[in-house]
Amino acid sequence: MAIQPFAGGEGGFYARDRAWHPPVASPAYKSTTLRAPRHALLSLGQTRSELTGPAFGHDILNPLDNDLIRNFSQDGSDAIGQRLVVYGQIMDENARPVPNTLVEFWQANAGGRYRHKREGYIAALDPNFGGCGRAITDADGYYHFRTIKPGAYPWPNGGNDWRPAHIHFSVFGHAFAQRLITQMYFEGDPMIWQDPIALSIPDRTAVEQLIARLDRHNTTPMDTLAYRFDIVLRGRRSTFFENRVEGN
Ligand SMILES: [Fe+2]
Repeated sequence: MAIQPFAGGEGGFYARDRAWHPPVASPAYKSTTLRAPRHALLSLGQTRSELTGPAFGHDILNPLDNDLIRNFSQDGSDAIGQRLVVYGQIMDENARPVPNTLVEFWQANAGGRYRHKREGYIAALDPNFGGCGRAITDADGYYHFRTIKPGAYPWPNGGNDWRPAHIHFSVFGHAFAQRLITQMYFEGDPMIWQDPIALSIPDRTAVEQLIARLDRHNTTPMDTLAYRFDIVLRGRRSTFFENRVEGN
């Protein structure tokens, strides 16, 4: 695919590859057929407030914001589950790091249960696990957080569909209008390949881009396993963002 010149900017513009990302309506993932646009999309200019704020700095974070093992602890105990460090780099379409970007993450507990009032799964809550955290990327575009490995959980889609273990991610960029949302899976999990949401992505390599890799070099002995999950914000090899199926 030819690189298009990008007027007034540096580098090139990499056009989106429509075969890399899923169609907006994927019948096996039932709710997409209800929310998929039925008419041609219109391109609207962004407003000044969308473009100018907010700007996040490292000083908004509390020390435990990126520690899901401890940040909801009620009695001083750690959350129950397999202890992990998840880390990675946020990059643009030219593999340049994206610093000072707010990354948020949320997940089910080790039993697959969310702390949410509309949760319908019978697995037990962990009183010391809230399931949310955030971090801001450093000068090289890296984030990291401590957590426990989430469990798989059932969801009302087909008769007996289960989500593979996953962590939801939001990347804010420099303005609310740029917010991107995706999901991270775990290397070696066979349930990824039975999941109607992951399988709505037609290209297997694009699905594999959502799978965090076990990183034995960054484990902490007798404490935490490490997984690496990098995010590419746009371009031909963009990470799949579920809130920008039509393009970003
Ligand atoms: Fe989920």
